[in-house]
Amino acid sequence: MEIRHYNNMTRTPALALAVEGWMWLVKKGHTDGGFVLNWEQKAILALRENAVPVGVLTWSDQPWNASVFVNLAYVKLAFRRTGVHTAMFDALVERARELGRPTILSGAMKTNNVSRHAMKAQGRVEYAVMTKFDVPPA
Ligand SMILES: CC(C)(COP(=O)(O)OP(=O)(O)OC[C@H]1O[C@@H](n2cnc3c(N)ncnc32)[C@H](O)[C@@H]1OP(=O)(O)O)[C@@H](O)C(=O)NCCC(=O)NCCS
Repeated sequence: MEIRHYNNMTRTPALALAVEGWMWLVKKGHTDGGFVLNWEQKAILALRENAVPVGVLTWSDQPWNASVFVNLAYVKLAFRRTGVHTAMFDALVERARELGRPTILSGAMKTNNVSRHAMKAQGRVEYAVMTKFDVPPA
């Protein structure tokens, strides 16, 4: 498996796959619009035979709180459970180490059990809950 890093997604093959992943989350009801895909996010792209992109992980550097944040992870259906996500996360761990960021943060909808399993498999710990309040119209 080939892993490529992009400093932002503009004009890269990571953008198309990230949009596909975003649409997957929308279709499955695993985002409420609170997470927004942004082409300025950095990306890790996983490619298989013939340089075909099969997975993408987008992330942002957060030097103000000594962390990096995972915005989106997506693996094409046919390539799931073959270690693609883990390979991308391992690449992010290496990048966080290089940047001197001791923590990797991320989130998932409570209903997205597959994502929660995949994150826990990498040693990521569920340690907080987020709240939201939809402001009613006046
Ligand atoms: C979540 C996702 C990225 C995982 O990608 P993946 O490449 O299949 O994950 P990996 O192959 O690296 O899996 C590593 C481990 O995670 C756990 N895991 C992954 N998918 C799982 C599932 N469907 N059920 C239970 N555990 C799972 C397992 O422990 C797995 O190890 P194993 O296959 O040896 O048992 C992928 O399912 C996906 O793209 N889902 C749709 C998008 C999404 O929900 N993204 C996350 C929110 S941003």
